[in-house]
Amino acid sequence: MQLIEGHKPITPADGIPVWDIDPFDEAILSDPEEYYADLRAKGPLVYIPRYSILALGQYETTHKVFSDHENFVSSRGVGLNDFKLEKPWRPPSIILEVDPPDHTKTRRVMSRTLSPKVVKTLAGMFRETAEQVVDELIEAGTFDAVTDLAERFPVAVFPRAVGMRDVDQRKLVDYGACVFNAMGPDNRLRRWALERNAEIAPWIMAACARDRLKDDGLGAMIYACADEGEITHDEAAMLVRSFLSAGVDTTVTGIGNALWCFAQNPDQWEALRADPRLTRPAIEETLRYTSPVHTFGRTAGRDTEVAGFPVEEGTKVICVLGAANLDPDKWGDPQTFRIDRRPLGHMAFGAGIHGCVGQNIARGEMEALLSVMAEKVARIEPAGEAVWRPNNAIHALDRMPLKLIPR
Ligand code: HEM
Repeated sequence: MQLIEGHKPITPADGIPVWDIDPFDEAILSDPEEYYADLRAKGPLVYIPRYSILALGQYETTHKVFSDHENFVSSRGVGLNDFKLEKPWRPPSIILEVDPPDHTKTRRVMSRTLSPKVVKTLAGMFRETAEQVVDELIEAGTFDAVTDLAERFPVAVFPRAVGMRDVDQRKLVDYGACVFNAMGPDNRLRRWALERNAEIAPWIMAACARDRLKDDGLGAMIYACADEGEITHDEAAMLVRSFLSAGVDTTVTGIGNALWCFAQNPDQWEALRADPRLTRPAIEETLRYTSPVHTFGRTAGRDTEVAGFPVEEGTKVICVLGAANLDPDKWGDPQTFRIDRRPLGHMAFGAGIHGCVGQNIARGEMEALLSVMAEKVARIEPAGEAVWRPNNAIHALDRMPLKLIPR
């Protein structure tokens, strides 16, 4: 069998539009809005011959397929490579890249560890750290909002919540970027990810070992589940690895994107300062508007159908969450950043059984930072051009000079 990008080539059903485009082209990844609009306009699903995949961007179909774990499995990888046909680039995640019943067991452990009740106990530490960082940055004058704030804050609080003794901002952020770039095709970004991962993975795995974790963090809670026999000790190390794969770069991106939204929309910053009850809705609107995870895939586990078209077993389907989150049929005026929108059902955290298990902690971090900033900062001023950093699955900034004007 000939393999295209590590998966089975397919013959699309008659009537599915064929689109000669590379969705992983770096220019599109950096500025995807036109691609999102074209994808939605072509119909509920399109065939992309370059990679022999189907792509979805309309809200309704994207939501349906992404949450349909019975027909569209995650165990064959959520990127372009089919783990059934090709050796995965790293040992697969035992939560993200598995199906029930394997998923049910690990998901239970992770949900308990990241429950709203547990996250609530971290709120004080998040807030204290946010105050320190924001005070320093107000003093600093112009700074790079990506490294000095969007990366620095989660790297200060999240490893501490996990109980990590070893913390390295560059390695932690790059590890997430590697995991997400590795989901794409064999392009420059994926090749960078495989190379960089070879350098970082040993450090990451060592940092996840039980003896490198304090006994009062989220990591210790996972290992305690192994002591109880709910999972094995090797599985515990893999779940702690999932914290680091999925819990750093995503939140860094969410925070960077929020700062970008407010720097671009000073009236919305004013609205947030005037009414702090809008902090949570502002977080949801940021996530909808910028979709930190722009694309994740599924594989048809059996012959099935989408929007009335037959889809054969083994078909790779990319679900373009960024396009669904900007679908005018769902959101009315999607291109407007409006913090009082309350965008219920946005897909930034996914949907269905794999919906983000870390969303409470992500919201908690973003809430701490934005509420401290709303108290202390009158204006968030751009101090240079914001530049996006292409990634095969993440829509994140590379750099963004800002200045915080105190109240
Ligand atoms: C703004 C920040 C975040 C965003 C946008 C985000 C986005 C997502 C999305 C879209 C999924 C669904 C994947 C799929 O269905 O294939 C997901 C799953 C997941 N996320 Fe997050 N995430 C964020 C923060 C976090 C944090 C802080 C953690 C860890 C503490 C985390 C851990 C996970 C894990 C382990 C999964 C897999 C869940 C499963 O398969 O059951 N995420 N996330």
